[in-house]
Amino acid sequence: MARILLYTGKGGVGKTSVAASTASMLAKQNKKTIVMSTDPAHSLGDSLQADIKPEPTKISDNLYAQEVNINDAIQSHWSDLREYLTALFQYQGLDPISADEIAILPGFEEATYLLYINDYIKNNAYDVIVVDSAPTGEALRMLSFPEVMRWYMEKVFPISRTAAKIARPLMRPFTGMPMPNDKVFKNAEGLYDDLGEIHNIMQNPDITSIRLVTNADQMSFNETKRAFTYLMLYGYPVDSIIANKIYPEKTGDFFEKWRGTQSIILGELDSSFPEIKIFKSYLQNNELIGQDRVLKFGQDLYGDQDPYSVFYKGKPVEFIRENGKTAVKIKMPFADKKNLNLFNKSGELVVEVNNWKRILYLPQTMANLQPSGAELRNGYLYITLS
Ligand SMILES: Nc1ncnc2c1ncn2[C@@H]1O[C@H](COP(=O)(O)OP(=O)(O)OP(=O)(O)O)[C@@H](O)[C@H]1O
Ligand SMILES: [Mg+2]
Repeated sequence: MARILLYTGKGGVGKTSVAASTASMLAKQNKKTIVMSTDPAHSLGDSLQADIKPEPTKISDNLYAQEVNINDAIQSHWSDLREYLTALFQYQGLDPISADEIAILPGFEEATYLLYINDYIKNNAYDVIVVDSAPTGEALRMLSFPEVMRWYMEKVFPISRTAAKIARPLMRPFTGMPMPNDKVFKNAEGLYDDLGEIHNIMQNPDITSIRLVTNADQMSFNETKRAFTYLMLYGYPVDSIIANKIYPEKTGDFFEKWRGTQSIILGELDSSFPEIKIFKSYLQNNELIGQDRVLKFGQDLYGDQDPYSVFYKGKPVEFIRENGKTAVKIKMPFADKKNLNLFNKSGELVVEVNNWKRILYLPQTMANLQPSGAELRNGYLYITLS
């Protein structure tokens, strides 16, 4: 099974540079590697100084790169479904413009990238898929979409998947509600299954490592803690953090205060993420451009470590038994009680941190349980079910 390494973090911290350098290193190890940009503002081509196409483009031995054209991709994956949803919302009384707008769910577009990754995994096309992702917010929308789609399929799609074939001829004359035609239905079902598969793969710490790129300043550090929290909430395995653009000693007096700030933040990173590997990389004396410089940057960054390794394997979300009760345990060292919301809605457990919400589908055997208490303890959120 291939490895998926996804780099995200605050804007401008060095995601693209780190992703490109990681991919270059892995290709040098004779691993067939693709680095794929899922940031609509692509800059992979600038970093690697190559003409990267919307399709996988070979740029050197074992190294492929891709800058997906999101509009084409949406056209080929989602257009039927979107048309159908528009019709459905129109039927429900929305005017055509808002119906069209609402037919784009949050993450709908970004999730298209996941379909590419799923294809590569299914076809065993690469040994490593390196994802140069968009800044945190967009990356999270993409990663949270498979569950949004599941909710949608079960709630808003007018009929459950298996019942559709039987129900369609009966329902239409009856209610006048637009029913998906065979093509749309197959399309939706296929997308739903593919998203389900890639969702599992990307939550598997043996295959996927999410890596947070940051800079050693307060704002980047704060964003890193928030991003980590949301990634844990959604169940994605983070195995390392890359603290980039650290000022070397020789930057002189002008940067003295900065070096002080950075050293404090680096200390806080170490103590805040005790299990997670922290890599440090220094500000270079010039922009990181071109394959040779990018490769060298990666070699300095990882030192004697292999970027292919899994640096930490903890599971963000677990179902456990404790004191005779079943509980959901979510790693959440930085969560604050006042930003946390829990509610239970017709069998779904909804956990909300700031504005990021996860609908937790309980395993079949626990489906009838209700949340009976919640507490933050030792960096974990425990939700007891009874
Ligand atoms: N360690 C470094 N030393 C010097 N320059 C760096 C370093 N890391 C990144 N850069 C430069 O900083 C700029 C931003 O880096 P990069 O594009 O990799 O960040 P990004 O996080 O992908 O940004 P965006 O959020 O816009 O996608 C680039 O010009 C890059 O060459
Ligand atoms: Mg970038």
